[in-house]
Order: sequence, then C-alpha cells, then structure tokens
Amino acid sequence: MKTSFFSIIILCYSCVVQRSHCRSANDFLKDVFSLDDDDNRLKDELSCSTMECQTAEYLLKSMNRSVDPCEDFYEYTCGLWVKDHQVQATKVSWYQYKEAEKTIMNNLKEILEDENVDDVLAPAQTFYKSCLNSVNNEMNLEYLKSIISLFGGWPIDTKEHSDKLRSLDWMKVYVYMEKNWKIPTILDTGISINYMNTSQYILTIGQPELMLPRSMFVNPERYKTQVNAYSELIAGTAFLMYKELGFGPSPNRNINFGDEYADEIIQFETQLAKIKNSGEMKRSEKILKNRVMTIDELQTDIDSMSNVFHVDWLKMFGLLFKGTDVIVKKTERILVKDENYLKSLLRVLEITPKRILINYMSWCFLRSMLSDIREDLRNLAQDFNVVYTGDVKEVVRWMDCVSMTSSYFPYNVGYKYVNKYFDKSTKEMATEMVKNIREAYMEQLENLGWMDTVTRQSAIDKLQSMHEFIAYPDWFHDPLYLQNKLKIVNMTDSYLMNLEILQTSSNLKKLSKLNTFHNHAEWTMDVVSVNGYNDVYSNAIVLPSGMLQLPFYHKNRIQALNYGMVGLVVGHEIMHAFDDSGRMFDKQGNRRQWWTRETMETFLKKAECFVQQYNNYNLTVLGNQVKVNGQMTQNENIADIGGLSHAYIAYQKYVKNHGAENRLPGLPELSPEQLFFVGFASIWCESTTEQTLLNDLLTDVHSPGRIRVLGTLSNSVEFAKAFQCPVGSPMNPEDKCKIW
Ligand SMILES: *[C@@H]1O[C@H](CO)[C@@H](O)[C@H](O)[C@H]1NC(C)=O
Ligand SMILES: *[C@@H]1O[C@H](CO)[C@@H](O)[C@H](O)[C@H]1NC(C)=O
Ligand SMILES: *[C@@H]1O[C@H](CO)[C@@H](O)[C@H](O)[C@H]1NC(C)=O
Ligand SMILES: *[C@@H]1O[C@H](CO)[C@@H](O)[C@H](O)[C@H]1NC(C)=O
Ligand SMILES: [Zn+2]
Repeated sequence: MKTSFFSIIILCYSCVVQRSHCRSANDFLKDVFSLDDDDNRLKDELSCSTMECQTAEYLLKSMNRSVDPCEDFYEYTCGLWVKDHQVQATKVSWYQYKEAEKTIMNNLKEILEDENVDDVLAPAQTFYKSCLNSVNNEMNLEYLKSIISLFGGWPIDTKEHSDKLRSLDWMKVYVYMEKNWKIPTILDTGISINYMNTSQYILTIGQPELMLPRSMFVNPERYKTQVNAYSELIAGTAFLMYKELGFGPSPNRNINFGDEYADEIIQFETQLAKIKNSGEMKRSEKILKNRVMTIDELQTDIDSMSNVFHVDWLKMFGLLFKGTDVIVKKTERILVKDENYLKSLLRVLEITPKRILINYMSWCFLRSMLSDIREDLRNLAQDFNVVYTGDVKEVVRWMDCVSMTSSYFPYNVGYKYVNKYFDKSTKEMATEMVKNIREAYMEQLENLGWMDTVTRQSAIDKLQSMHEFIAYPDWFHDPLYLQNKLKIVNMTDSYLMNLEILQTSSNLKKLSKLNTFHNHAEWTMDVVSVNGYNDVYSNAIVLPSGMLQLPFYHKNRIQALNYGMVGLVVGHEIMHAFDDSGRMFDKQGNRRQWWTRETMETFLKKAECFVQQYNNYNLTVLGNQVKVNGQMTQNENIADIGGLSHAYIAYQKYVKNHGAENRLPGLPELSPEQLFFVGFASIWCESTTEQTLLNDLLTDVHSPGRIRVLGTLSNSVEFAKAFQCPVGSPMNPEDKCKIW
C-alpha cells in the first residue's frame, strides 16, 4: 500500500479520463526566469540574476499582497496565480507540481529524442517513437481489430448467433484484460505484499476501478451531463466500429445507433457501482474488512451465493499465472479485499446476459485505446473530455508518450535523467533535511502526552526503522546491478503491440514473485516522478529526484522555502506511518495492533475533530455547493498539519546549525519564518476547471488545494505566531484540531 503527496496519476493509457491528467502546457522556465513580452519588468529582470532575486520574483508573481494574510492565506499567496494561469489558456488544472513536471517532461523528451542511440535507451526510444505516430500507423488499427475479433467483435449484436457467443469464455476475456493490459473490468486480481508478513507476497482479489466516479453512476440525475457524455462516447464508438471497422452490418445513419449498447453498458456499470464500497468508508475500516482465506475456502463461500452462476476461482488464477513458474493450488492463500463485493458480483453476473458482460469488458479495453488508434476515435474521446474535465485543448501527444515511456522504462530513463540533469550534491542536502525532520518527529514523540509509554516506544521504534529513499537508488553507481534493473526488450513499430509486450512481461514478472522474499530495503519507485510516497508495507518513505527541483527545491535557495515545500512533503509522508491506516502497521510493515486500546480511542477522538472541520468546507462547483468529504480526506489532512509542524521544527534546527537566513530582496516585509509558510501555501496555487474540481472532490483522498492551505494553517499555532494573526481571525480560529 502506497500513499502519496499528490494524487497519484494512474498509468495514462488505462483510461481516457486519467489520460487528461498527463498533459500540461505551460513553460515553467519561461515563467520563472521569464524574459517574455511587453512590460517594463524586462529591465529589472535582466539584473535579476541571483537566486535570491529570482526566488522573490517567482513568489511575487503569485502573491496578492493587498490581501490580509490572516484573512485568507490562500488568496494572499496564490491570488495572482489564478489570474495568471487561467485554465482556459492552459489546461484542465494547473498546479505548481505540474510546472515541475513540465520541466522534467522537457528533459526526458530531450533524452528520448537524442540521436546518439545506446543500449540503455534504444528500446525506450523505439517505444517512444511508436507512441508518437500511433494514430497514423495502420498497424495499430489492425492490431486492435485482431484483438476485438477474438472476443466476437464489438459491440456484439442482440441478433448475433448464439454459437459464436457460446464459444466465448468470459473468464478468458477477463484474464486476458488483466494479464496482458492491466485494464480494470469487473475484478482486480493479482498479487501484493502480504501485510500479515511483509516478507512474503500473497494473491489478492478486490474491486475494479470504474470509468466515472462511483457517485455519478449512483446519482445519474444529479450528474446527468457527465453520464450523457459517457453514453455518447460509447454510442459514438459503436457507430465507428460498425461503420468504419466493419464489425457488423453497416448501420444506417440513424443518429440513435449505438444508444442501446450504451444503455446496456451503463446499466451494467451502474450495478457494479452500487455494489462497490463508497468513498465514505474509512481506510482503516476497509483494511479491517480484508480477509485471508484459501482459494478452496473462497470457492465454498462464494458457491453458496448462486446456483446459477459458477466461477471456478482456481481455474481463474491458473490462467492468470500461466507463463510463470508458479503453480497455484487450491490451498494457496488469498487476500480477499471485499468479500461482499465478490458475492454481490456473482448475483449481478447471474442476471447479466453473457453478451453484455463480454461487450462491457471489450469496451473497457477500447476506451483505454481510443486516443491511440485513429483520428476519429480520438476526437470522440476529446469530445467526452470537454464535458467531463472541462478541457478544450488538444492533446499534446509527446507528453503522453514521454510519461508512458518513463512508466514502462523507469530505470532506463531515470538513469539517464539523473546523469544528465540531476546535481548529485542535491542528494546530500536533501538527506540532511530528512534527518532534521526525523529528529523533529523523534523529539515530539518523546514528549507526546496523550500516548501511553508502551505505544510511544513502539512508535519510536517504527520511526527509527523507517527506510528512506532519497533522489535515486545507490545502485545507479553499480553497473552490474544496474544492468539487471534495466529493461532490455525488442520493441516493434506498433504502439499497441509494444504496450501488450511490456504490460504482459511486467505482469508476469510481478506474478512470478509469489513465492519469493520481499526485500524492504529495495528501491521500488521510479526516480523522475514529482511526488513523495509512503510505502506502508516496507515502512519506507520515498523522495524521488523529480521532487528535488524548482520550484520545490534548490540547494542554493533560501532553505526556508525548501523546508516549507519539500520538507513539508517529507513530514507529510512520515506522518502517514501514524495515521488512521498507518497505525495498523508495525515497524516491519506487518499489520499488527501495536496501539493500546486507550491510546487508540484518544487518537480516534482527536481525528474526529479533523473530520468535522473539513466537512464544514464547501466549494461552489457548477452551480452547486459541494462539500469536502472530511472522512475520505482525513488521513491526508492530518498528514498535512503533522508534516507542516515537524518541517517547521526541522527548519529551526537548520537555522540553529547554519545560522539565520537573510530576507529576500523585493520581499523585505517577510521574515524567513514567514517565507516558510508562503512556500507551503504556494505548493497549492492551482486553477482548475469546475468539472475537474468536481471529479477531485468526489474521488480524491486529498482535499482541494485551497482547502489544504486554509485547513492546515488554521490549525497551526506556529503560523498564527509568525504572522501575528489575532485570535478569532479566519486564519487563527480559537478551536484548533491537533494530534501530533
Ligand atoms: C488583490 O486583493 C485585493 C483585496 O482582496 C482585491 O481587491 C484585488 O482585486 C486583488 N487583486 C487581484 C489582481 O486579484
Ligand atoms: C514471514 O515469512 C518469512 C518468509 O516466508 C518466514 O521466514 C518468517 O518466519 C515469517 N514470519 C512470521 C512471523 O511468520
Ligand atoms: C531481439 O531480437 C533479436 C533478433 O531477433 C534476438 O537475437 C534477441 O535475442 C532479441 N532480444 C531480446 C531481449 O528478446
Ligand atoms: C459553505 O461554506 C460557507 C462558508 O464557509 C458556509 O457559510 C455555508 O453554510 C456552507 N454551506 C453548506 C451547504 O455547507
Ligand atoms: Zn499523503
């Protein structure tokens, strides 16, 4: 289980919706060190050559200093940002981190387009090229057709001969999607680290992701616009598949063609939505619902649900592991993530015609590929995105391709990136920062009044055993080891074929681990992502090199900002080890109740304060007041305030060791301590379309940026003190929530 600082961007191709998150369109360099256009700033900029000056200029571009920081610190820090980064001019949403991401994207593009081919990069470069041209390459269409034909064409018509249908095995279709493409359909099966004993792996089964947020299927009236757009996407695809790709009798140009298929699919997906857990459920409750049983026991349990529909689970896992050395037996243990979902699924499948089930699974595949095959299919996806995310911009293909390439070739690309663009001494500076933050946690834990001595000692143990992975793995300096980690495969000209080759081999590799040891001290994340992570099962925090660059970090910049931004991220990730789900795992990452009952109850009471606080926030979205979900965002909100206060203590340690820092030129009114908080808030300067904001409010475990700033700082005594906010002012309310 991994938690992250920013919403995790799931593999781009896995769905049209997430794909839109992979693009960006603003030039960070131009923005920060800009010499652009008109204004008389040009003269000043030419003289703004020092890091201090550029830093101040960067902050000033976002801040609205007419706003009282004690009234609304988000407006104070980000007021001009929103004006400057209108989403219409850029894309669906724009955050600071996307700027950092953009810089990396440009760097990676340069690497992937480098003409000096070498063995490390060659396969990645071939893949990248196949991606750039995919829409104009007929091979991809042919490949898609051959796959869809295996499953009876799409959509399979009601009049279709039952012979053809009878010969199709839904289980094979399911396993194929799961194994060769990792495309979510009706289940989620695979292996993960066994959290009962994190030295091992274990089979898992759980619920799949759906195409739209669950609430949209459950409240179709309220989300009519989105559901209608989704319906048009399905119907439009059906029309094209029949008309252009010859999957059925050429339809007459009836504008309603495809509607019935769309209805069938949405109706089926709505049934899945209804049996899925809602976002209301706490993470810890979800974990408690998990059960470990043998495949045999699972079979017995589920068999009792239906006399009509039978699933042979051993056969399913056998198919999944075919191609590995692992032989799955019925005594194999399996982590069942939500047995009620499985039971309900069986009842749904019992009443679902096979034709619709297969159509749905093929649709899941198609929708993931729409933007890669043909111009007309891509346009359909684009039309959907306009409604769904509010995005009106054209896809920047190379950005999609860069992120796909780096996700499939993480170390080939990451190794080149670090060598070419990453300053190694930055790693040392960042390591000192992490050390200061860990010390801050240690001191605070030692003095934490509400925790009993036994629990506190275990917490200290957990903190002390926590692994840290900073910037990039040490084995980047070990050529032999590195060679094993690089992906060396033969890539073709067909993007789709390449995707299948890569996804299949990476799945088989992962599945082969079932009976092996899990090594906690192994670096597992990529190195270029702009994010921080907590890996609960390894008891590790990860700070990739992507996070250690402007605007978040620079070794020569005023450290108050580095601590307020990256220090906060580190503090936040450490805090996850002790939040409502992290507390269930011990220093080895094993699930164990190491808190005493009393301490746990005190914790839950304190946590409830945050739930209430954030439940009271709401934003006006598309004309409706939409509330923040305090329950769903609880862990992230607690990690923000915990991370902030410990990063602040760590900064004070830095000052104690290295001396006080100077103010920035151009911002004389702000002390370094105040800059720390400006840095913190500026991470979340964001502008999004309302459609995207809505989707985030419904699905993201993180609160929206504005709320992350207002909620966190109004709980911070240090903030109120630094800005001398009067008690009772909006940013310094009398009642505060506090745990750590
Ligand atoms: C800055 O804040 C002030 C006070 O709230 C407001 O009147 C003004 O419009 C803001 N400036 C911009 C450019 O948004
Ligand atoms: C955890 O798994 C490892 C590897 O299978 C085993 O050696 C060890 O004894 C297990 N630990 C516990 C506490 O069961
Ligand atoms: C790639 O293809 C060549 C020629 O077909 C073959 O010799 C080589 O073993 C292949 N490499 C891999 C990693 O499959
Ligand atoms: C939304 O928030 C505002 C200001 O915080 C508050 O006055 C209002 O009552 C809230 N509305 C709802 C529906 O919670
Ligand atoms: Zn987090």
